[in-house]
Parts: sequence; C-alpha cells; structure tokens
Amino acid sequence: MQKHTLFVFYILFICGNKLQTYATLRIVCYYTNWSVYRESTIPILYPDSIDPHICTHIHYAFAKIHPVTLNIEPTEKHDTHWTDHHSMPLYHRLYGLKRRNPQLKIILAVGGWSAKSEGFNAVLYNETNRAKFIDQTLKYLRDWNFDGLDLDWEFPGDVERDADSESKIKFDVLVKELRDAVDYVSKSQNKTFLLSAAVAADPQKIDNGYIVENFCRYLDYVNVMSYDYHGQWDNVTGINSPLYKSHTDLPSHEEWKNVNSSIYYWLERGCPAEKMNIGLAIYGRTFTISNESSTVTIGSESIGGGEAGPFVKENGTLAYFEICQKLHVLNWTSVFDTESQTPYAYNGKQWVGYDNLKSIVLKVLWAKTVGLGGAMLWTLDFDDYTGLFCNHGMFPLTRRIHEMMLDDIIKHLPLSNTTSVILEQSTRLKVTTIKFSDRQKTTRRDHYRLSNLAVTCTNTSTLDYFYMFLLSLAYKIYF
Ligand SMILES: *[C@@H]1O[C@H](CO)[C@@H](O)[C@H](O)[C@H]1NC(C)=O
Ligand SMILES: *[C@@H]1O[C@H](CO)[C@@H](O)[C@H](O)[C@H]1NC(C)=O
Ligand SMILES: *[C@@H]1O[C@H](CO)[C@@H](O)[C@H](O)[C@H]1NC(C)=O
Ligand SMILES: *[C@@H]1O[C@H](CO)[C@@H](O)[C@H](O)[C@H]1NC(C)=O
Ligand SMILES: *[C@@H]1O[C@H](CO)[C@@H](O)[C@H](O)[C@H]1NC(C)=O
Ligand SMILES: *[C@@H]1O[C@H](CO)[C@@H](O)[C@H](O)[C@H]1NC(C)=O
Ligand SMILES: *[C@@H]1O[C@H](CO)[C@@H](O)[C@H](O)[C@H]1NC(C)=O
Ligand SMILES: *[C@@H]1O[C@H](CO)[C@@H](O)[C@H](O)[C@H]1NC(C)=O
Ligand SMILES: *[C@@H]1O[C@H](CO)[C@@H](O)[C@H](O)[C@H]1NC(C)=O
Ligand SMILES: *[C@@H]1O[C@H](CO)[C@@H](O)[C@H](O)[C@H]1NC(C)=O
Repeated sequence: MQKHTLFVFYILFICGNKLQTYATLRIVCYYTNWSVYRESTIPILYPDSIDPHICTHIHYAFAKIHPVTLNIEPTEKHDTHWTDHHSMPLYHRLYGLKRRNPQLKIILAVGGWSAKSEGFNAVLYNETNRAKFIDQTLKYLRDWNFDGLDLDWEFPGDVERDADSESKIKFDVLVKELRDAVDYVSKSQNKTFLLSAAVAADPQKIDNGYIVENFCRYLDYVNVMSYDYHGQWDNVTGINSPLYKSHTDLPSHEEWKNVNSSIYYWLERGCPAEKMNIGLAIYGRTFTISNESSTVTIGSESIGGGEAGPFVKENGTLAYFEICQKLHVLNWTSVFDTESQTPYAYNGKQWVGYDNLKSIVLKVLWAKTVGLGGAMLWTLDFDDYTGLFCNHGMFPLTRRIHEMMLDDIIKHLPLSNTTSVILEQSTRLKVTTIKFSDRQKTTRRDHYRLSNLAVTCTNTSTLDYFYMFLLSLAYKIYF
C-alpha cells in the first residue's frame, strides 16, 4: 500500500496535479442484527463465521436511542444476552473476531432507516440531553468493548421523516461535542475510539442535513450511502448503484442519481476525499416489468418491486448470492451496461440492477483514483458468505473489494522494462498510452518502484486518465 501511494503520487506529479496522501485505507463492512432471523436452508451468518481479515472495520447495525432515557439500547435480546436460539450475545461474538485479527475495529451503528428520527431529536433537544447522551454512550461503548460509534441518522433535516427542523445546526453541535468527548476518553483511556457516520447521497438531503466541512472534520470517516438510487419506488427499471449517469435519467431531478455525482457533491462542499468511503451495494434492487415482450432494458416500464428471493425474502431486493442463483441455476440473462458501468439481469418479467465482481472492481478503482479513504459495503450477510452460489469462494465481493483497495495490483503484472499499455477506446474515456521504463526491483519480493514513468498527459482529466490506466491493469488481472 505504501508503494501504491507512492505510485499514485508519481503519476499525479507528472500530470501536474495535487496529490492526496493517506496512511490507511478502510474497508467498512456492515453486518445486520436481523440477518440471524432468516430461516432458510443455508446456514445463518453468525459473527464467528465472518472472515476477520477482509474488513478493517465491522459496523454492527443497529442499536437504537431510547427517546426518554437517551440510552443506547440493543434492538434485540440476543445482542447482549445469551439466548437458547442464538447462544452467546452477538456483541461478544463480534468482539471475538479481534482475537483472530487484533487490528479489526468493531463499531456500533445507531439509527438506521426504520429508527427514523425520534431518538436523535430527543438527544438534540437541549444541552442537558446532549451531555447525558454523550456520557451514557461512551460508557456503553466501553462496557461492551466497542471501538467506536457510527451515527446512522436517516436523515438529519429530513422533516418528512420527522427530523427536527433545526437538526442541521443542532446535529453539528452534537457531533462536535461527541468529537471532543471521544478525544478526551481516547486520551484518558489510552485507547482510540472512532466516530463515524453513514450519510445521504442525495444533494437535497446533504444540504438539509449537514454542515459538510465541519461534519467531515469532526468525524474519523463518513460512509456515503451511494446506492438505492433506483428501486421499486420508481415507475421504470433502473440500476441500484450506477457509477455514472444514464441517458434514461430524467433531466433536472435524476441527474444526481449516481455514485460519481454524490461523491463529487460531498467533495465540492468541502469534505476531504480521504475522509470518505464509497458506499458499495452487495445487493440488487428488483422490478416486475409490465410488458415482457417489449425490449427489456434500463428504463423499461415497471409495475413495482420484483419477487422476493428465497433466502432474504424481501420484495424489491435480492442479495448478491440470490442473484448468483438466478444467473447460474435459473439462467437469467445478464447484461453489462457500459453507461452506468454496472450489470442488470432479467428473466420473464423479473428484472434486477446490481453489482458484480466487475462493477465492484471498477468502483473501487474509481474511488482510489479520486483519492477516497476507503469503501463501505452493505452488507456482509448479502455476500455469498457460504460460497455455495457464485463459484468464487466465500465472501467473493467483500474479498475482491479488500483486494482491490489494499493490494497493489501492479505487483501482479508482468511488466517488462518498457511496456506500453494501450488503453482501449471506450465511450467515455479517450485512448492514450502509458509507458513503463526502468522498473526497479527492491529487496521485498512484491515491492516494485516505478521510476521514469513516462505518461503522456492528454486533454482528458488526470483522474479519468489514471482511472483508465488502473482499469487496463485490472482488466488484465481480473477479467
Ligand atoms: C434490528 O434493528 C432494527 C433497527 O434498525 C430494528 O428495527 C429491528 O427490529 C431489529 N431486529 C430485527 C429482527 O429486525
Ligand atoms: C433539557 O430538557 C430536559 C427534558 O427533556 C429537562 O429535564 C432539562 O432541564 C432541560 N435542560 C435545560 C438546560 O433546559
Ligand atoms: C498506551 O497503549 C500503548 C499500546 O496500546 C502502549 O504501548 C502504551 O504504553 C500505553 N500508554 C500508557 C500510558 O498506558
Ligand atoms: C463526475 O462528476 C463530475 C462532477 O460533477 C463531472 O464533472 C464529471 O463529468 C462526472 N463524470 C462522468 C463520467 O460523468
Ligand atoms: C407489449 O409490447 C408489445 C410489443 O412491444 C406490444 O405489441 C403490446 O401491445 C404490449 N402490451 C402491452 C400490454 O403494453
Ligand atoms: C414516471 O413518472 C414520471 C414522473 O415522476 C413521468 O414523467 C414519467 O412519464 C413516468 N413514466 C412512465 C413510464 O410512466
Ligand atoms: C410481495 O409481493 C407479493 C406479490 O407481488 C405480495 O403478495 C406480498 O404481500 C408482498 N410482500 C410484501 C412484504 O410486501
Ligand atoms: C438452465 O440451463 C441449463 C443448461 O442449458 C439447463 O440444463 C437447465 O435446465 C436450465 N434451467 C432452467 C431452470 O431453465
Ligand atoms: C531493465 O533495465 C535495467 C536497468 O535499467 C537493466 O539492468 C535490465 O537488464 C533491463 N532488463 C531487461 C529485461 O531489459
Ligand atoms: C485538447 O484537444 C483539442 C482537440 O482534441 C485541442 O484543440 C485543444 O487544443 C486541446 N487542449 C489542450 C489544453 O491541450
């Protein structure tokens, strides 16, 4: 990774751009409290079965805030108690992963979509409440050995979902006070506690909910929920998490509905790139299309969500492993859409827009190009954790994200002293050539330093340029 940072530096330097350095990259993995309730013919994913080396942080979703006592409370008995069905408390079972990887951080996420705003509003009510909440929360984290707190308010400032009308400003105050308290506790306890948040991807929600510059400064990192752009709530089919905009997006109100736009929106409002994690969806959003015989594509008329999958059992959503089953066993047709850089698949009237190994690789490379500090994925229990469905082993998407984020992909490449990488013409990126020369091998087997890197900068933006370069490497290695 060290070496990769150096490498990025080099190219950006040659191309005359400012560089963004970062010491550590994050892979933040959410794990949900409700996944253990899925009854099915495959084993439940308990925390013990999570590979502790494929994520740097595991966020447990969700705990809630009691609106009167302002206590952090588990949503399920099994979180903190022994139960007949689930045995040891899940909080302990998660902590157990640290025995196998002491670097792993276990974070408690509070809030979530279904919790709405009640608990957060109560905390923001006045300074007494804020102080009480902060005090109690830090004690709770210590008691249960968590490494930090993740604020998942969906969404501050969203009055339609009952958020206090002044929550943008009040939330800013709360987060600042939390930061101060966390710093104080970290110092006095000689243990680093982390503070993070899951945040909106919609510009309107961003404007209504966060004083961006402050927010990103106070927090250790923010997880941009760059997915759920399209789903059963739309009247036409669309991709859950497109990287780029599509010609089918309606002008004026749908143009923001892609990862690129959302991340740039945060950047432009002053959130440093290295504080952000790109949000990656380990699931698809599904539709039932109205006319099977018409051309099935993005923007086809839909009458609602697709049928629930056999394991997750949720209308409108399919876990990645359920999608693999559709593709491999039920012979769904899959198409890779170059505009959004993501796939969709269909069979009869059923349609799903999702992410696979290819689109995930592209997004991670894109995120590294922009200089983001990491990736967040929702969720571990949607990945093919048993390895039974996708023919790529256990946790294929999560492992690939980890690999792309932290590995130096260049080390896999058999580069000669002067290799020209001719980048293929694509609809969105221009062709160019990158030459390597005098590659020096250092003592470490996997540690190369590229010097005298000759890069012909063309008109294309440096970032697109570097992205293309990485892309070409990725294609050689992974596809
Ligand atoms: C899990 O946590 C959420 C909080 O978002 C809660 O609403 C839910 O009831 C919990 N348990 C289950 C089984 O869904
Ligand atoms: C804050 O509100 C609580 C009740 O919600 C009340 O008990 C407390 O006195 C208030 N504190 C201040 C400083 O107004
Ligand atoms: C703080 O913790 C680190 C390792 O976690 C240890 O090396 C150091 O001695 C500790 N400092 C104090 C004052 O306990
Ligand atoms: C990504 O977003 C930026 C900022 O809005 C924009 O300038 C750029 O054209 C977008 N890239 C693509 C390929 O759409
Ligand atoms: C479905 O599409 C076919 C051809 O595209 C058309 O002939 C037919 O009228 C359509 N049916 C409905 C119900 O829209
Ligand atoms: C879907 O809804 C939008 C307005 O939200 C409307 O402009 C469009 O015509 C609708 N499309 C279809 C296929 O019904
Ligand atoms: C899912 O859809 C089916 C049929 O489309 C419907 O019968 C069922 O009630 C739906 N389930 C939920 C939870 O919405
Ligand atoms: C899927 O395709 C395979 C091979 O062509 C075939 O054996 C199998 O019966 C098909 N399955 C379904 C559900 O159509
Ligand atoms: C690559 O270049 C180095 C010096 O720059 C030289 O020692 C080495 O022999 C070259 N390797 C090949 C395969 O040409
Ligand atoms: C960019 O390319 C166009 C034609 O491809 C050329 O006219 C223009 O001068 C170039 N601009 C720069 C800054 O090189």
